[in-house]
Amino acid sequence: MSAPLLEIANLTRRFGGLVAVDAVGLRVAPGEIVGLLGPNGSGKTTVLNLVSGALRLDAGTIRLDGAPIQGLAAFRIARLGVARTFQLVRVLGSMSCRENVLAAIAFGAARAWGEPARRAADALLARTGLAGREEALGTELTYIDQKRLELARALALRPRLLLLDEWLAGLNPTELQSGIALVRSLRAEGIAILLVEHVMDAIRSLCDQCVVMNAGRTIAQGRPEQVLQDHEVVRAYLGDADA
Ligand SMILES: Nc1ncnc2c1ncn2[C@@H]1O[C@H](COP(=O)(O)OP(=O)(O)O)[C@@H](O)[C@H]1O
Ligand SMILES: [Mg+2]
Repeated sequence: MSAPLLEIANLTRRFGGLVAVDAVGLRVAPGEIVGLLGPNGSGKTTVLNLVSGALRLDAGTIRLDGAPIQGLAAFRIARLGVARTFQLVRVLGSMSCRENVLAAIAFGAARAWGEPARRAADALLARTGLAGREEALGTELTYIDQKRLELARALALRPRLLLLDEWLAGLNPTELQSGIALVRSLRAEGIAILLVEHVMDAIRSLCDQCVVMNAGRTIAQGRPEQVLQDHEVVRAYLGDADA
């Protein structure tokens, strides 16, 4: 097994009396897709927020390539090669799609400006399904297109690790197949992905490993086919605490 790109240990975050993330550990190897599953409210988005530096942790360690990154500002973590999309999308509405991506290109590790940056931006938009929408404003996009724009922006940072928060949710069956193919092509380029997802087809066909959370804790880990037939996992998804 290769040394982990991302290694989380004992990760803990409280909101008042609620332990949203309770001593969670997981590893993502370079070029691996790890699925983070669990019912709503189980702490998945909070884990991504802690890894990306959007939230401070209360305890634990987060290592990227062996070096601790917990406590670093979000922009520093991004510069180290960690990019993300949000469950509730956050594109810059008053800017065009191209400008949204150009802003990320200017900020990213491979900083570029002018015509090369513009070509790179348009190529990323085409890749995520936004060819022809380069001039459209963020506010003019459908929800799905805003998600595509967020992914183009994340890829503009040339990440080593991509955090996707329900990026495939809400796609129709055709879009879902192309979305799955896109995520797979990112892995083929060597990008490691921590994928929060509910779409079972996507989990089965994409994930090398899965980690299942419930009420802040890890309740199962392993390959998707093993994890999805685990009794505790089934029970957590059905929401039957007494079963
Ligand atoms: N900023 C916050 N302030 C207070 N509570 C929060 C905050 N973010 C998340 N929570 C709570 O933490 C728990 C886990 O939330 P979240 O990580 O969003 O779960 P998931 O992504 O698995 O649905 C939920 O009970 C949620 O209400
Ligand atoms: Mg969430």
